[in-house]
Amino acid sequence: MTQSDQRNIGDLSHLENGELTSCEVDDFEILICRVEGKLYAIEDNCSHADTPLSEGKLSGFQINCPLHGASFDVRDGSHSGPPAYTGVRCFEIAEGESGVSVIIESKDGDSKAEPQTGYFQTR
Ligand code: FES
Repeated sequence: MTQSDQRNIGDLSHLENGELTSCEVDDFEILICRVEGKLYAIEDNCSHADTPLSEGKLSGFQINCPLHGASFDVRDGSHSGPPAYTGVRCFEIAEGESGVSVIIESKDGDSKAEPQTGYFQTR
């Protein structure tokens, strides 16, 4: 069972298609981008070696890590290219009249959801 916390991160109406930004929510650095009019949110930390994905290149739904080029799908955080072999966390995000909200889920028993870390996690 999971619990979720909703965090308002303000107005992102200025974020155009193909643009990205990042913000800190609780202990997470989160990459937020807009693709085809919709916002997506994934953990802003490459699963390979702890590098901000927000410094990488966004092409369609793919974000490429600036350090070694691993790619991730912003729709679900799945990895789609080496050298990473695992995805990054994906967050539910909603845009409304009062701004943008990111939903942070944590498992029962956890005092707080833990960010995933990646330190040269290769096969
Ligand atoms: S740190 Fe991202 S691919 Fe190596």
